[in-house]
Amino acid sequence: MSLLNGLGGYGALTKALHWSIAGLFAFQYVAASIMTRIGPAETALGLSQASWFNWHKTIGLLALGLAVVRLVNRRLGELPPWAPTLSDAERGFIHRAEQVLYAAMLVMPLSGFVYVMAGGYGVLLFGRFEIANPIGAWPTLATGAKWLHIAGGWVLLAALAGHIGLVLRHQFVLGDGLLRRMLVAPRQPD
Ligand code: HEM
Ligand code: HEM
Repeated sequence: MSLLNGLGGYGALTKALHWSIAGLFAFQYVAASIMTRIGPAETALGLSQASWFNWHKTIGLLALGLAVVRLVNRRLGELPPWAPTLSDAERGFIHRAEQVLYAAMLVMPLSGFVYVMAGGYGVLLFGRFEIANPIGAWPTLATGAKWLHIAGGWVLLAALAGHIGLVLRHQFVLGDGLLRRMLVAPRQPD
């Protein structure tokens, strides 16, 4: 398997980034629902609310770094041809959904970052390193960024439901092995 995408399929880098970001985003939703539900004096799974906030911010910024690498990687290689079992309507849907997913990979961490910086909450990376605040206190910007972050979270969830639903339908209902295109295993001969 080559590193970059090519006519033979997705490259190793695309696959590694795809599943790493999927894992990090799953963590983001779990952390967000815990940290916004428990109180400052409570713990969940052994972590305080402040720690959950910190890990949510840290992992979110890590995901931003990976998203930038992913965008560059997507531009470097050549996209593999469409899977032959996708209808024209499905190709149109996938194209739009991928635009939303790529936008969310940037908008979610950036809006979160702007919210916590303009709101004066800050980021303690890995619970150790304080990131300098490049924005300063700006309450109106903080409120706008917060709502963008919350609304973006729902839009991303809807795009993901469509993305995952389409893949699972092809994989398990139509049985055409679409999921294999993003897995490490080499493709079966057609
Ligand atoms: C990378 C992807 C990220 C995803 C998918 C994500 C997702 C979410 C979601 C789903 C929520 C819950 C929103 C709600 O209340 O309904 C949330 C809340 C929050 N996120 Fe993120 N987030 C990301 C990155 C970040 C980053 C980088 C920061 C800060 C540096 C951040 C800071 C926050 C804060 C402070 C809240 C609490 C907002 C509130 O008070 O309700 N997030 N995030
Ligand atoms: C945060 C979660 C996810 C994001 C942001 C995401 C995003 C993407 C994007 C942008 C692509 C296009 C290829 C690329 O440019 O990298 C893609 C392809 C793909 N994704 Fe996901 N994905 C996520 C989760 C999942 C999950 C959970 C599955 C498994 C059910 C999945 C299965 C696939 C498959 C099979 C393809 C290749 C489709 C094809 O070319 O025919 N994805 N994904």
